[in-house]
Amino acid sequence: MGREMILLTGATGYLGRHLCHHLLDRGYRVTTLVRGRQEGMRARLAQALGPLGREPGVVEAFEGDITLPDCGLEAAVRRRLAREGVAAVIHCAGLTRFGSHLADEAQRHNLEGTRNVHALSRALDAGQFHHVSTAFVAGDASGTFDQEALDRGQGFHNPYEASKFAAELHLRQVHRAGEVLRIHRPSIVVGGHPLGLNQGASTVYTFLKALHFLRCCWRRDPGRMACWGVEEGETGLHLPMRVEGDPGLTVNLVSIDQVVEGIAASLDRPRPGLSSRTILGQDYTLERLRHEFSRAMGITGIRLVDAAAWREREMTPIERNFRRATASYLPYLRGSPRFPDCEKAAGWPVDPGRLARQFRRLLEDDRAGLGSQAMELLQVRGPEDYFHCLLDRRVGHSFLERIRFIDCRARFLVEDIPPFDRILHFRGGEVRYCDPDEREWDFCYRLDRPLFEAIVRGEEEIRRAFFAGRVRINGDKEAALKFGFLFDDHCRHLEQRVLEEVCA
Ligand SMILES: NC(=O)c1ccc[n+]([C@@H]2O[C@H](COP(=O)([O-])OP(=O)(O)OC[C@H]3O[C@@H](n4cnc5c(N)ncnc54)[C@H](OP(=O)(O)O)[C@@H]3O)[C@@H](O)[C@H]2O)c1
Repeated sequence: MGREMILLTGATGYLGRHLCHHLLDRGYRVTTLVRGRQEGMRARLAQALGPLGREPGVVEAFEGDITLPDCGLEAAVRRRLAREGVAAVIHCAGLTRFGSHLADEAQRHNLEGTRNVHALSRALDAGQFHHVSTAFVAGDASGTFDQEALDRGQGFHNPYEASKFAAELHLRQVHRAGEVLRIHRPSIVVGGHPLGLNQGASTVYTFLKALHFLRCCWRRDPGRMACWGVEEGETGLHLPMRVEGDPGLTVNLVSIDQVVEGIAASLDRPRPGLSSRTILGQDYTLERLRHEFSRAMGITGIRLVDAAAWREREMTPIERNFRRATASYLPYLRGSPRFPDCEKAAGWPVDPGRLARQFRRLLEDDRAGLGSQAMELLQVRGPEDYFHCLLDRRVGHSFLERIRFIDCRARFLVEDIPPFDRILHFRGGEVRYCDPDEREWDFCYRLDRPLFEAIVRGEEEIRRAFFAGRVRINGDKEAALKFGFLFDDHCRHLEQRVLEEVCA
């Protein structure tokens, strides 16, 4: 298709940046729709494409947001794109996190977002529409799941799967005869360059991150970990730990190269109609992954046990923490759908040992402290995640214990798009969200998202930021500053608290 224009969403993400790179290699002109204002948008594109050897200027970027009508593109931009002609829209943007508290967000991004991008594609009269979905629209469907199948009455393991399913269902409902609409369903995508720099690298990387985290805890305080049988052995760190999972279960890993080549190649074969294709790599048993990952990480003593053996005895604190960090993936260690009619993608299969060794090097180079690592593992990116974990007692346990004597309603107004605005009621060492109609509060902190994240990681303080004019306080200032002092103290000592948690 020569210098034809592709409109790509999600170019700052993991898959999108590799796809962008590959499309440029194939000679396409790539136009991207990126969140955020001009400056931030350029910086994030540079961050995504730079390590792949691309200047951000090689793509044209428009400010947009898939959750908005017309994806937030100005009318003049839409007119220009339509005039110049968009050969294909590839929709790769989405919310890829699994948290149960993100159900609304997942629908907004993955269902509404797909609806908006598809409508935009039609308005621009694009020649083809490509939707990047996931093999896991199969949810908990038992047995086999054909690549043209969709609604088999399955349930879903998380809001992410449900929202990706809903997006596909929507596309099927609105598809018109003659329209070229392709749905690509990769399995678990791994590899590429640079591993780990995709902020929040998840799936199999989460297991490697959790192992690295436990090693860092050992380095910080070997004595504390020793009572759980952790010791430095001749072949590496001996970390006796059970992980619940069926050792014989297979999971499919597909390399990023296989995925981007598969998607890009399909641009050359624009068959009218709607089709969906599962993009598979190779199957690996959990036992093989356990073995390869343990070896690459220099760790011995990890055992996969089935559900019955898991229940036989209580979890050790180390097992509990590892499980907590990898909880989102537990369903995938218990069962997995089969995709019998799908051909394996062409190209090099994934080498799990090599993947883990590369990732370990990146982890070792990263100087993040234990507190930041713990937050990363719990996928705490913003106030929604932090307070979700606080309410669940996955963070801040000792903080709540310490403020038992306090009864207050604190409003957190974190400015962003969309803003976070919730009131939390702290009382007797418990915390709950107030209902939206309960509008009374004692004090309100108003701050931006990066500052909030820095505070909960112990890198900034509410009180200091208040005196520097970066946190505004309304209502009872004195109570807010006292509460802020206790919260700052907790976050400042996060490293220590995390260690206590892991071993207690
Ligand atoms: N990774 C996998 O293993 C895998 C497997 C199967 C399918 N998939 C599918 O592949 C697609 C990409 O996944 P990924 O792993 O590359 O995800 P990712 O790294 O989380 O990237 C998501 C991308 O979507 C963008 N985005 C999110 N919300 C947006 C919004 N409201 N407006 C505009 N852009 C928005 C993000 O932009 P910001 O930079 O602004 O956040 C980012 O560029 C997803 O649809 C996912 O379902 C991924």
